[in-house]
Amino acid sequence: MSSFFRCIRCGQKSKPGTSFRCGCGGLREVQHKFGDFSRDLFDGRFKGLNGEIGSGVWRYKELVHPDLADDLIQTRSEGNTSIYRHINLVKYTGLRSISLKHEGENPTGSFKDRGMTVGISEAKRLGAKVVACASTGNTSASLSSYAAFSGIDCLIFIPEGEIAFGKLAQALAYGAKVVQVKGNFDDSMNLVQEASELLGFYLLNSINPWRIEGQKTIIFELIQQRLWSSPDWIIFPAGNLGNTSAFGKALREMLQLKLIDSMPRLAAVQAAGANPFYDLWVGGSSRISPVKNPSTVASAIKIGNPVSWEKALNEIRASKGVVAQVSDQDIMDAKAIVDGSGVGCEPASAASVAGAKILFEEGLIKVDDDVVCILTGNLLKDPGASVDYHTGVINGVSPSFANKPVVVEPVVSSFKDILEKGSISFGGNY
Ligand code: F0G
Repeated sequence: MSSFFRCIRCGQKSKPGTSFRCGCGGLREVQHKFGDFSRDLFDGRFKGLNGEIGSGVWRYKELVHPDLADDLIQTRSEGNTSIYRHINLVKYTGLRSISLKHEGENPTGSFKDRGMTVGISEAKRLGAKVVACASTGNTSASLSSYAAFSGIDCLIFIPEGEIAFGKLAQALAYGAKVVQVKGNFDDSMNLVQEASELLGFYLLNSINPWRIEGQKTIIFELIQQRLWSSPDWIIFPAGNLGNTSAFGKALREMLQLKLIDSMPRLAAVQAAGANPFYDLWVGGSSRISPVKNPSTVASAIKIGNPVSWEKALNEIRASKGVVAQVSDQDIMDAKAIVDGSGVGCEPASAASVAGAKILFEEGLIKVDDDVVCILTGNLLKDPGASVDYHTGVINGVSPSFANKPVVVEPVVSSFKDILEKGSISFGGNY
């Protein structure tokens, strides 16, 4: 194999297997011995063999899992996600050049599918019988789907009562064995790591380096869609810090391979109630201090002890990036703007747009900077959050941009009656 594991702390190399932590305690990452690539190789691959749109992950196979036999690839045509611009985003953030790459357009509605297609294909290569993960929801939805698709048994650990319904519905429907943990995500993460070690499940959280390889393609595809021009900033929500690690690695490799000419800056955005990475960044300490009882309306990033903090910190530094935090009010208001522009996303995703606004207000991002925010999940993942915001029932969050439903009497004879009673008024001419 021309790919191997390497410890990010001590540099020790090993054969790709099922152990993701080195003896020294450092996390392992995948390293490839790259050949020479030109942009043309990838530009020639926007269509699959039969003219269908090919996978937006496996288009970059040489940069992701070069030696994997093609018949082991388990794909649901991930990626190929859109980039949107909208005047509402310009008005809201103050930034003149802001765009959104919508990873909620993936097969199970989140960016996780990009990592999962690679992780499950590797599980096939290793002959894994059972795959497992802990999750705030999206990882479990994605893994359940890919495991079912590939005929592998799937076990997921989720914090009881903390998973948005759209995600729980997916895991149950795809047939995973669901273990509800009376605790939070961090407790679930500890349990799944112990269970996998004890019983030999193949662990598919983003501590698995192959997940990171798949998630790099968010950046490959973004930059290829922009005709290989780097933005100034890439801004995204940060929880367990897999994406932060993947995005930085992707950019370093693109620079090394001369696929890009300049390095964008990364901005990882945490929810203020679940902000251990932000604290690490502003506090300048050398180790993460877990947040014991993380709390945020953005359940996807309600994480107090992120596994990949060390990789992520290296990548933020390498890109001259920053870590920001935003309140639940900021998140839900930004979501209302993204939703109201017709694009839509789940709460955690909107932390990116909220972060862009705050970093501009703080003067770090300039008005004409070219800024891309990554939307990580689909609006329908967490329908409760949208309804609660617009009906004004989220604790501590004012419905500043609410589109309050109009309530009408059930016993009216016609719509004309409703109009005459003045229950509804319309602006403009109809
Ligand atoms: N956005 C969404 C929609 C997510 O589901 C997650 C993570 C993140 C952002 C944060 O990404 O962990 O790479 O920093 N969700 C995980 C899960 C933890 O279990 O679904 P990260």
